[in-house]
Amino acid sequence: MAMSLDNYRLKLKGKELVPVVVGGMGVNISTAELALEAARLGGVGHISDAGTEALADLRYGTKFGRKKFERYRGYIDNPDKSDVHFDLETLAEAQKLHVDDTMGRKRGDGMIFLNCMEKLLMNNPRETLRTRLSAAMDAGIDGITLSAGLHLKSLQVVQDHPRFRDVMFGIIVSSARALKLFMRSAARVERWPDYIVVEGPLAGGHLAFGPDDWFEYDLGIITAEVLEYLRGEDLDIPVIPAGGVFTGADAVHFVENGAAAVQVATRFTITQESGLPSAAKQAYLKAREEDIYVSTMSPTGYPMRLLKQSPALQASSKPNCESLGYVLDAKGQCSYLDRYYEELAANKNKFPVVEDKFCLCTQMRAYRVWTCGQNTYRLKDVTEKLPDGSYRLPTVEEVFNDYQHG
Ligand SMILES: Cc1cc2nc3c(=O)[nH]c(=O)nc-3n(C[C@H](O)[C@H](O)[C@H](O)COP(=O)(O)O)c2cc1C
Repeated sequence: MAMSLDNYRLKLKGKELVPVVVGGMGVNISTAELALEAARLGGVGHISDAGTEALADLRYGTKFGRKKFERYRGYIDNPDKSDVHFDLETLAEAQKLHVDDTMGRKRGDGMIFLNCMEKLLMNNPRETLRTRLSAAMDAGIDGITLSAGLHLKSLQVVQDHPRFRDVMFGIIVSSARALKLFMRSAARVERWPDYIVVEGPLAGGHLAFGPDDWFEYDLGIITAEVLEYLRGEDLDIPVIPAGGVFTGADAVHFVENGAAAVQVATRFTITQESGLPSAAKQAYLKAREEDIYVSTMSPTGYPMRLLKQSPALQASSKPNCESLGYVLDAKGQCSYLDRYYEELAANKNKFPVVEDKFCLCTQMRAYRVWTCGQNTYRLKDVTEKLPDGSYRLPTVEEVFNDYQHG
């Protein structure tokens, strides 16, 4: 009889979990409700800290963005944002609010991890990262997955935190080479990651692969290279492939080849618990293969897989670094900002049209960047069309069970 994923368990620090990890999807696409269902069912769910304060404002009615805006409103027409900073205490408060609320509602034997999007440098990379990680640990998060950034000092900045050795730390890499670099920095604080997510070219969100070469890479091959590297170093760390694992059978294939679990996201974007607005969910369900592409529009500098119908591609927006400003780098710069002011200077008195970048902060917060995995066009095959022509949205439980038992 064919094996199902339920024949396997992900072992993390002595705990046994269903080997399904639902990946982080910012801003508030992988909601607490989505993550909590994955944990209740015995797997791992991720909440995301992309846009921490904006997320708290969306979910808990706080006014952190407004407060920051009041403080920095004088910078609105000033292209130099180097003095526009996050207040670290407020940032910690926002992070704690979200993690605390989520952890307080946790049921079942699974775990809740935080996806920490390191590439959001927040005009003060080291201190804002330290604050985000520390606040999440203070508020009792089970684990932290460091993603999209590969700061080699991430572990170092929190090495004195009392939970540094008991919380789970994971890292997302897209090659054995990137993992080697991270392991060198981990050796310096004598702390290996507790799990390693290997994200391949079919994933959603920001990617380590570009528009012209993503199809030359293969998740199975990269995962095998990572496993071989770990064996060579005599390290037994769970490896979790991600990107394009669409069915339970796909997942079984990976665990039969040495993976400890799989990380999945696209199947959950259109669940009832996902934070995407209903119109976006239906657009994902209607997507055709040719609607999905890898774009260079994100000002983070990383390629990002998108749906061509993303509203962010239709119209530019005024930068909003005074209340948001998550993408600002260590010098207070952002490539969208640069392009916006270039266009403004070139076309005086007209609203600038920036065609090659979007304002990630503003557009993600408004759910106008429809990032998705390469398999999004297959979503329609795993649900039903309703009489009114729309698609039925499954629950997290249905999709989770489909991976676990399907
Ligand atoms: C809508 C969406 C948003 C995502 N956002 C993030 C993110 O904020 N941070 C991150 O590390 N990965 C992000 N990802 C990647 C997922 O966590 C996951 O690793 C990957 O998409 C798994 O592949 P699959 O979507 O084919 O199942 C996102 C994926 C999707 C589909």
